[in-house]
Amino acid sequence: MTPMPATAAVRVRRAELSDLDDLVALELASFASDRLSRAQYRRHLDSDSALVLVASANHRRFLGTAVVFFRKGSKVARLYSIATHAEARGKGVGSALLQAAESHARRRGCKELRLEVRTDNAAAISIYERFGYHRIAELPSYYEDGADGWRYAKPLRTHREKA
Ligand SMILES: CC(C)(COP(=O)(O)OP(=O)(O)OC[C@H]1O[C@@H](n2cnc3c(N)ncnc32)[C@H](O)[C@@H]1OP(=O)(O)O)[C@@H](O)C(=O)NCCC(=O)NCCS
Repeated sequence: MTPMPATAAVRVRRAELSDLDDLVALELASFASDRLSRAQYRRHLDSDSALVLVASANHRRFLGTAVVFFRKGSKVARLYSIATHAEARGKGVGSALLQAAESHARRRGCKELRLEVRTDNAAAISIYERFGYHRIAELPSYYEDGADGWRYAKPLRTHREKA
């Protein structure tokens, strides 16, 4: 991959069927366990209770992804997954995806976004805390490989509530 300029403007869009190969490849490259399969991604692309986002910049159409789940009757949305291609990390792709996930959840009337993270995932924890997520639970042996997790949450205020 050619290096991405630090100044490239990151855009976030909804994933399409044509993104499936990229989604599955990034999932494999980013996570050693608890992965979403191709069939699961395919279902999520068509589902009202899931939102799959893709980040791009300039001529690079796939730099990262985020998956958000919604539940009928619940005002709590769940950020299930977020990942940036290793070559494009540290340039704002994850932040743009997180911001987009929050605004989609807000627009759907959600009041809170929750997520789980491995306790040793310093890069992810730093971005979540910078965005205002706070730790609400310890999740011992939460992951398939036995690793511990933390649950984080952030209240999603509307622009009117923020003013
Ligand atoms: C977490 C992740 C999505 C962040 O994506 P990104 O595109 O690099 O995000 P950004 O560029 O917007 O921000 C990265 C921030 O993490 C910080 N960071 C990067 N590596 C870090 C590390 N090892 N320790 C602490 N902070 C780190 C950067 O300094 C940056 O913060 P800054 O903007 O204040 O400088 C990316 O690291 C990733 O894909 N990781 C693998 C998949 C993963 O673990 N996902 C989360 C599962 S819960």
